[in-house]
Amino acid sequence: MQSTDLHAFSPIHAVALRPKQNSEVAFGAVSASKSGLTTQEVRDKSLAGVKDRQANRETGGRMKGKVGIITGVGPVAGIGTAAARIYAREGASHLYLLDFQGEQLPQLAAELQQHYPTLKVTWTQGDAASDEHIQKIIKQAMEEEGRLDFFFANAGISIPKPKLKEGDDPAIAGLKGMAKGMSGTDAEDVFLAVKYASAALARVNPAKGKTIPGGSLVLTASVAGKLANAGPIPYSASKAAVISMAQTAAYELTGQNIRVNAICPGLIQTDMTKLAFDYARATGKEHRMGTLNPLLRQGLPHEVAELAVWLSSDESSYVNGQALSVDGGLTGSMPYIRAKM
Ligand SMILES: NC(=O)c1ccc[n+]([C@@H]2O[C@H](COP(=O)([O-])OP(=O)(O)OC[C@H]3O[C@@H](n4cnc5c(N)ncnc54)[C@H](O)[C@@H]3O)[C@@H](O)[C@H]2O)c1
Repeated sequence: MQSTDLHAFSPIHAVALRPKQNSEVAFGAVSASKSGLTTQEVRDKSLAGVKDRQANRETGGRMKGKVGIITGVGPVAGIGTAAARIYAREGASHLYLLDFQGEQLPQLAAELQQHYPTLKVTWTQGDAASDEHIQKIIKQAMEEEGRLDFFFANAGISIPKPKLKEGDDPAIAGLKGMAKGMSGTDAEDVFLAVKYASAALARVNPAKGKTIPGGSLVLTASVAGKLANAGPIPYSASKAAVISMAQTAAYELTGQNIRVNAICPGLIQTDMTKLAFDYARATGKEHRMGTLNPLLRQGLPHEVAELAVWLSSDESSYVNGQALSVDGGLTGSMPYIRAKM
């Protein structure tokens, strides 16, 4: 039978390429020997390895001397907090942290300064979707440091709660609430970040070592902004707007040496998804979390944060206007039915 593109995409073909449990797999001349591990053990060991490698990473200089703002840095296990730690590890000189949950911020600032004594950390309890708060934190950075190099617009909520009045039809009120909720969700704070931070990134200050304009805007979107089934309408639509903003802003800022990229996380184990993980644990189904993707596991916050830092650094100097997924391969596939492994 003649092979076609459709065959390449067919589940039968995919299954034929997939190694059977504990069987030998040939990679050209190289033959991988039996691992003797079950799929579950591979999953668990790979998650443990990801944690270990992060704990043992050495300090680097990818963000040396850079000044930046991160929003959505509240929870201990969040993407923003993981990012703050990595920006610090990579030598950033001053981090401005913003979240509307302020409880963890002093502790995080103290932890970072203890590990990296030359790092300055300023935290603010505020709303990333407030024009006033965003302008204020950018102004503060420009007054204190005379430069801004990156803005990681990461703040986000998963489900804006529609407000129901007595007598409302829940379906209609729900939809109206969702549409209304969108104006207070991720798209709005990302828009403000792009609007105000781009003006600051474009400013040079030779006395502070910034001789050419530019910098990086990193916007947290989601796989929900690319495809259905990862969130309700307001969340998904606002994340789609974030992706569009990365693409459009990259072009609106033509010639200013400002890069704008979006990150699209898949299922990441953070406060946002805590309820789902708690429920899975309580019902003995924790091992099923994240198994829609070919790595068969959830992501950890620092796996997303590493990309944010790379996109903020000069190492990604030719990456612009992109929406990069960090999802274990989830959005890399046509829908298919996984055969029993
Ligand atoms: N966890 C996931 O599976 C996942 C998947 C896709 C995308 N994301 C996105 O990643 C980003 C970080 O999420 P997380 O999983 O670390 O969640 P998280 O709940 O652990 O952290 C998000 C933080 O953002 C803060 N925040 C929300 N809106 C804010 C606002 N307007 N002003 C100030 N602070 C605000 C919250 O207080 C919270 O501290 C979000 O944009 C989220 O939508 C997460």
